[in-house]
Amino acid sequence: MRYGHFDDVNREYVITRPETPMPWINYLGCEAYFGIISNTAGGYSYYRDARLRRITRYRYNNAPFDYGGRYLYLRDNDTAGFWSPSWQPTRTKLDKYECRHGMGYSIIGSSCHGIETRTTYFVPLGQTLEVWKCVVTNHRKTTAKLSLFSSIEFCLWDAQDDATNFQRNFSTGQVEVENGVIYHKTEYRERRNHFAYFACSEKLAGFDTQRDVFLGKYTGWEKPAAVVRGKSFNSVANGWAPHGSHHVKVTLKPGETREVIFVLGYHENPVDQKFDPAGSQTLNKRFVKPIIRKFLNPGKVAAALEELRTFWDGLLAVYQVKSPDRHANRMANIWNAYQCMATFNMSRSASFYESGIGRGLGFRDSNQDLLGFVQMVPSRARERIMDIAATQLKSGGAYHQYQPLTKRGNNDIGSGFNDDPHWLTLGVAAYVKETGDWTILKEPVQFENEPGSEKPLYEHLRRSYNYTLERIGPHGLPLIGRADWNDCLNLNCFSDTPGQSFQTTTNKDGKVAESVFIAGLFVLAAKELAVIATKLGKNKDAQECLAEAAKMEKVIYKYGWDGAWFIRAYDDFSRPIGSKVCKEGKIFIESQGMCVMAGIGLKDGKAKRALESVNQHLATKHGIVLQQPAFTRYYIEMGEISSYPPGYKENAGIFCHNNPWIIIAETMVGNGNRAFDYYTRINPSAREKYGDLHRCEPYVFAQMIAGKDAPTHGEAKNSWLTGTAAWTYFTVTQWILGIRVEYDGLRIDPVIPAKWKGFNVTRKFRGNTYVIKVKNPKGNQRGVKCLRVNGGKIAGNVLPVFPAQSKPIQVEAVLEG
Ligand code: GLC
Ligand code: GLC
Repeated sequence: MRYGHFDDVNREYVITRPETPMPWINYLGCEAYFGIISNTAGGYSYYRDARLRRITRYRYNNAPFDYGGRYLYLRDNDTAGFWSPSWQPTRTKLDKYECRHGMGYSIIGSSCHGIETRTTYFVPLGQTLEVWKCVVTNHRKTTAKLSLFSSIEFCLWDAQDDATNFQRNFSTGQVEVENGVIYHKTEYRERRNHFAYFACSEKLAGFDTQRDVFLGKYTGWEKPAAVVRGKSFNSVANGWAPHGSHHVKVTLKPGETREVIFVLGYHENPVDQKFDPAGSQTLNKRFVKPIIRKFLNPGKVAAALEELRTFWDGLLAVYQVKSPDRHANRMANIWNAYQCMATFNMSRSASFYESGIGRGLGFRDSNQDLLGFVQMVPSRARERIMDIAATQLKSGGAYHQYQPLTKRGNNDIGSGFNDDPHWLTLGVAAYVKETGDWTILKEPVQFENEPGSEKPLYEHLRRSYNYTLERIGPHGLPLIGRADWNDCLNLNCFSDTPGQSFQTTTNKDGKVAESVFIAGLFVLAAKELAVIATKLGKNKDAQECLAEAAKMEKVIYKYGWDGAWFIRAYDDFSRPIGSKVCKEGKIFIESQGMCVMAGIGLKDGKAKRALESVNQHLATKHGIVLQQPAFTRYYIEMGEISSYPPGYKENAGIFCHNNPWIIIAETMVGNGNRAFDYYTRINPSAREKYGDLHRCEPYVFAQMIAGKDAPTHGEAKNSWLTGTAAWTYFTVTQWILGIRVEYDGLRIDPVIPAKWKGFNVTRKFRGNTYVIKVKNPKGNQRGVKCLRVNGGKIAGNVLPVFPAQSKPIQVEAVLEG
């Protein structure tokens, strides 16, 4: 079944039935204030850090999944009937329902009993607040006497603590209500200087701030006591569960419309001006009041919404394609770019699969995310690189993750994931290729956030490189450490105790188990570093990098090639993993993708051979699985990978993140048909037709689709926050369509399906706009040999960096085979 459709013109996905297979969400905010919002208004908000500055509450693993959110209730005061315009939480049958998830906003509209409601939720640029613009229209023939109630639940800031520490929390809650604005100020009396507020543009008939008074005894969100009786209780929370609800009376003549605005925000006061009057315990509201006033004004709200649209126009204009495939077009032009922005902002912290209390920003993940957003926000990418690099350990290793609020590495998952350091090199390379900003390599950056430890960023990359050379195993391959890219291939763990972390438990000294994947990654990163070194005039370094890369390639040929594909790793007994000699897990995807991307086997046919093996053993109609055969039991020497039932996650699931590596590899061997076919298999827009099987949002990539060994083969999970976003974006824009940023220009090297007659791309790059027409009259898959630039011919397929011009540069390329 279909639950909606794409509106490409408005860049929206339109959900037309509220009961989607799962909550289909969107993100609000793209700077410091963020929210998750589902198609029935479920979700929560936070400031910067989903754990430490949670503004509204979310109750985990609830049923329904997204219960609790930004709720409104409409009550007909003549009949005492009421409903939720966003369907939840009352789940009253609506005559019409529509949710439009757009770029940074969501609109939920519905009709019930002749009353139409349309609520636009968004975070204005530059603000730490969200606006709910609710427009109510009376389509009845008679006057409607309505009550509108809002409802949010405040979180007591630390979301982890909020969900567990009740002996304290039930006594700390505090609010103030002044001129109809509800201020949530728990812990403000002591060490916090921030508070939340919830305001409404209309004169209030009442309010509630104590959840259990609003809801009543033994009732839930579907039937709050205040709504049932049609009148707030004007409750003031002292402890228990601070809540925010306004009650507004709206009387509408036939055909009449009213706009009611709600503003939920976060504010920080200067530490020495927390209270007003000074010496009292009353919140100082002087600084926040003008902000509240501004966003309760319909004109200002309309302008802010327009500003948000313009902002997204600008971001998306960097790359726009018109190809024969509408799924590729809408993903590349709209949704995939948008999803990359979400992974930039959230990393893997807050979604309906990532709790926001678990993971910080991953060192590896954040570096890869750069591939997807650097072109949209280069200066923020630079800042991100600096933050990540500053957490790097002096050894060249890395904390596996860091907290967004403090920007410090955290030891929750520790370090010793031996692939981590190389992703920094690839992230920096992506940034420099996009911007041409070589100064970043000279920028001093701390190690381990220690003042005084600053070294140029280039030195960080050198240490990343040395980190592997200092950790070589018995076959000459890199030691794997706790794990490599595959967090679940834990070869030094040997855990037999329930509940132990597979990532941090180490029962082996780590001197034996090796990773062919890291070997490939090392070769890729070392070659990249060699180019960087050459550019910086460090020729000796460059020579050394190339020599070590060549040496590693030889080792891969000797110990990493299994006859028809690349081996994955060696375990603690020095036995191969991902080899024909294994009973299960004979072939893995990661080493095939990474080794070919590093250029290994391109000349002697091994790359093609490995890709044939992938096609034969790993490809399914829903995507390429991670390995085969799936592990049917727990292998203590392999760890978490064998903890999952066959077909899920790293145990032979379709782990979408690494599918693009194979797709890039296919483009490198010139196989445009297959590259695009693989891409389409995981493209959510193309999977919209699988509705109830796929289950996740059809507008964003999911981390995982159940593999062929799973009973639910084809079912997606963990949508939104996944490295899949950046990798698929990078793959389709730069490798399939082939408009690829390089240090010295823009390469035009499409590798496309033979049946495509051509396509057009507009690309902004280093101050110029390129309008690129690619033609494919002979049905080739690759082969641009020369370019026409503003009519003139250039040999080769690289556009040099031109001085900035006022007019777009017209480029024509023909695939000559
Ligand atoms: C609620 C009530 C329904 C009523 C409607 C409109 O859905 O359950 O009985 O007609 O609101 O007032
Ligand atoms: C998750 C992690 C990522 C890891 C991948 C494979 O996506 O965020 O860091 O590489 O799983 O285990």
